Amino acid sequence: MGTVLVSKILTFLLTTILVSSAVIQCGVTYDKKSIVINGRRRILLSGSIHYPRSTPEMWEDLITKAKDGGLDVIDTYVFWNGHEPSPGNYNFEGRYDLVRFIKTVQRVGLYVHLRIGPYVCAEWNFGGFPVWLKYVPGISFRTDNGPFKAAMQGFTQKIVQMMKNEGLFASQGGPIILSQIENEYGPERKALGSAGQSYVNWAAKMAVGLQTGVPWVMCKEDDAPDPIINACNGFYCDYFTPNKPYKPLLWTEAWSGWFTEFGGPKVKRPVEDLAFAVARFIQKGGSYVNYYMYHGGTNFGRTAGGPFITTSYDYDAPIDEYGLLQEPKYSHLKELHHAIKLSEHALVSSDPTITKLGNYEQARVFSDGKGSCVAFLSNYHINSPAKVTFKNRHYDLPAWSISILPDCSNVVFNTATVRAKNSHVEMVPSGSVLYSVARYDEDIASLSDHTAITASGLLDQINVTRDSSDYLWYITSVDIKPSESFLRGGKWPTLTIDSAGHAVHVFVNGHFYGSAFGNRENRRFVYSAPVNLRAGANRIALLSVAVGLPNVGLHFERWETGIVGSVMLNGLDEGKRDLSWQKWSYQVGLKGEALNLVSPTATSPVEWIRGSLAKQSRQPLTWYKAYFDGPKGNEPVALDLRSMGKGQAWINGQNVGRYWMDYAKGDCGACSYEGTYRQSKCHSGCGEPTQRWYHVPRSWLKPRGNMLVLLEELGGDISGVSLVRRSVSYN
Ligand code: GAL
Repeated sequence: MGTVLVSKILTFLLTTILVSSAVIQCGVTYDKKSIVINGRRRILLSGSIHYPRSTPEMWEDLITKAKDGGLDVIDTYVFWNGHEPSPGNYNFEGRYDLVRFIKTVQRVGLYVHLRIGPYVCAEWNFGGFPVWLKYVPGISFRTDNGPFKAAMQGFTQKIVQMMKNEGLFASQGGPIILSQIENEYGPERKALGSAGQSYVNWAAKMAVGLQTGVPWVMCKEDDAPDPIINACNGFYCDYFTPNKPYKPLLWTEAWSGWFTEFGGPKVKRPVEDLAFAVARFIQKGGSYVNYYMYHGGTNFGRTAGGPFITTSYDYDAPIDEYGLLQEPKYSHLKELHHAIKLSEHALVSSDPTITKLGNYEQARVFSDGKGSCVAFLSNYHINSPAKVTFKNRHYDLPAWSISILPDCSNVVFNTATVRAKNSHVEMVPSGSVLYSVARYDEDIASLSDHTAITASGLLDQINVTRDSSDYLWYITSVDIKPSESFLRGGKWPTLTIDSAGHAVHVFVNGHFYGSAFGNRENRRFVYSAPVNLRAGANRIALLSVAVGLPNVGLHFERWETGIVGSVMLNGLDEGKRDLSWQKWSYQVGLKGEALNLVSPTATSPVEWIRGSLAKQSRQPLTWYKAYFDGPKGNEPVALDLRSMGKGQAWINGQNVGRYWMDYAKGDCGACSYEGTYRQSKCHSGCGEPTQRWYHVPRSWLKPRGNMLVLLEELGGDISGVSLVRRSVSYN
């Protein structure tokens, strides 16, 4: 009996140990030093790659490059509006195949940080929220609001369950080691007061209740409730401390560059500055750094937010929009990662001993208590290099730099000393020519003021379109008395349109009069110009254009779009006539959209104009169609749209994105400085279109007979359009 009991107890103990060691084996936890994986503290280097911003065919290559670049983790947001285009109707196909993406990361051998949000910001249309969510009765986004919380919980649960079903959390043996709930909620919470506080508490509880077995993160939220880890986003994060002493220092967005907006300059962040920022964070005790973005990619279709965010989301990232290495950024960071990894054990084992070596110079020494010694020697002076003595040896420290000495003696890396080669990118003719060019003029003449939707007054654009198209026609009729004096040679009356954004094209009696645009900082604008009216009925047709819905700002779901201000006629005999409250008819989208002119398979429902006439459009709203053979080789391909104006492009029915040859204005051609930190942004491209080239993924192309469709809003020259290869050399 006694032996049986002893053996039973032994078996029980053994099983418990095995079970608990199994839990430790695949569990992810954290302590004050770092994320702890399989019982080991880790310094984790991570990079953002957003799956819908590239094609599934590109994913493995991008992730492999990330691994070769020394990363451990791929970070991605989850894009709700891509996954649930209408309530209950889900899409996890193609670029939205989240499970495939995560399994690709797993196959390559990296971890995943899944930032579910579901608010994501990200310069993505509506910050990732489906537009239908705005129309859920009684809803108010990102606050203590029942309908919002129910919807957010529903989607978050769905994603978590999907991951669990596939065994993708690290607690199940999968690659997901971290998840994020919400995104940069701190500023909102402060603005919303107690409702914000209750919401953040609720969000934390809801997320933790989903029992993923891996830690949750909230970025830029100082009040992240336990056990959620609050993390930092920014150009520098060494000023950051977590809200509890037992949480590790995580940097969820180390901005590798910046996004671009149409009409804005291209932004670059020098890699020396980025490497310096990362080294500073690590020497402060940071143990997780995620580059936002590591590969920015492309805002295909109408996914760009803003408004006015460009289709390219290159971000000056280490892997460029096309999937090519951007040097010296990629390799310099790779060397940095190597130096950090050589130092990992000591870094996670101790807090540093700090020694002053000069006014701007410092040594931070880490040791693992078993004899290993790591030193970070820094020089914070912006311009002056320094000579320092450390452990009786002399070291030269370039200005604004950190040297890493994984053995406290030999410098294996200095953040300002770039040894990597440079990449030289050229967009070269691909040899593919456009043939069978045809044109279809958008039907403006048959626009009528007897459409299905009419109202007394001006309606918000998104309320009418529900964002099913960028375009909404506002149509009304104006009666002019034959006695009006301007009809007898006087000054034309002035039409004034006050719009909440983002652009308008003005047509009167079928004639185009002009356009006006807002910009990202100021979406509102006023159009004001004389128009020629005739005695009797005149038809005013205003095409209001959305250029991506806002993705950030307090209650951006309530911001208006379209011609909601007023429409006035000035200079009539009666003086001013306010058209704002009269009958308006609305037509959602363009006729060419309704006819699905972009479809490569449907037989065309319209007569296209062919031959030499095809190239001579007389009106701004024009559709072009052409064919081309796939460029040879395997270099990435782009459309050069320099000769066009503004619109959208499709290839074989796939929406390449919005294009706009808006010229970069503002503070181009300079690097600027911010606060006490050396600013990380340089601007270039003044006087050039912000975005001239548009990525066409190779997988969208076939060897022969690819169909290109352009919808041109302003007028352009199709004969100047070409396909180019992106050719890169390194030296
Ligand atoms: C952050 C945000 C990201 C992205 C970034 C700018 O504040 O969390 O989603 O919008 O700014 O690119």
